Amino acid sequence: MLAELSPALTAEVQRAAKLLASKQRICLLTGAGISAESGIPTFRDKQTGLWENYAAEDLATPDAFARDPKLVWSWYQWRRQLVADKTPNPAHDALAQWQYHTQSSDQQLTLITQNVDDLHEQAGSTVIHLHGNLWQNRCSQCNTTYENRSNRLANSKNDLIFDEDLITCQHCGGYIRPNIVWFGESLPVQAWQTAEDAASNCEVFISIGTSSLVYPAAGLAQLAKQNGAKIIEINPDPTPNTIVDITLAEKAGVIMPLLIQQITTL
Ligand code: OAD
Repeated sequence: MLAELSPALTAEVQRAAKLLASKQRICLLTGAGISAESGIPTFRDKQTGLWENYAAEDLATPDAFARDPKLVWSWYQWRRQLVADKTPNPAHDALAQWQYHTQSSDQQLTLITQNVDDLHEQAGSTVIHLHGNLWQNRCSQCNTTYENRSNRLANSKNDLIFDEDLITCQHCGGYIRPNIVWFGESLPVQAWQTAEDAASNCEVFISIGTSSLVYPAAGLAQLAKQNGAKIIEINPDPTPNTIVDITLAEKAGVIMPLLIQQITTL
């Protein structure tokens, strides 16, 4: 399979595999690009269908929800519908396989994602979510987790009915919103602490399928670099990340299985 890659990229995959096989503490950060080959559009892809005139950045904010809750809720119900039947691709599977493999080795992998889908979990990985979970809801006013006793609307994707009508909290009457971190909001404290610790202490930091534009997540690679880690980036397109030591410029679904196969056999 390596033969499908250019000789230069093949050499870089081998260099990355050697580096990774020789180190113990690895931190990985994934972004929307890792789920692209599962059929989930990335954030900076143009919106499709009904939503093509909206930018994700204009909908995923507390202000947008305060201004027009129905619009934002409908967009998330549409996104849920889009994601509900998607399954892991070879990149998610390879990562899960590597995590499983490290249980019987002295390597320590910390997998962090900016994604709100659950494809890492579906593949069998343990993952830290920095930006929340598409399948959970909470009250926009009192923060109570929303659980709909009658049909569990949008609390489990198996029970989704994608209703676009707004729901109100039974405790305070506030509107129910997705449990997702919006622009201008803080990241979950525990998840961010774990991510910072893993980035500061790792020997290699791998950035997979992220544009490295959205902070604070994009700062994790810099934190790792400042603490002496080598940085590997897997992305078919260039990013503003200037601290990368090894660039694997191909789709994650192509690179990850090759990389993991090499690491686990070295
Ligand atoms: P973006 O949409 O900004 O970037 C996706 C990246 O994936 C781009 O750099 C693409 O080149 C790359 N890509 C596309 N296909 C790929 C493939 N098959 N393999 C590898 N890479 C591929 O997504 P994120 O960086 O994840 O925040 O965006 C970060 C955050 O901004 C998101 O978590 C979301 C968004 O607004 C919130 O919802 C709070």
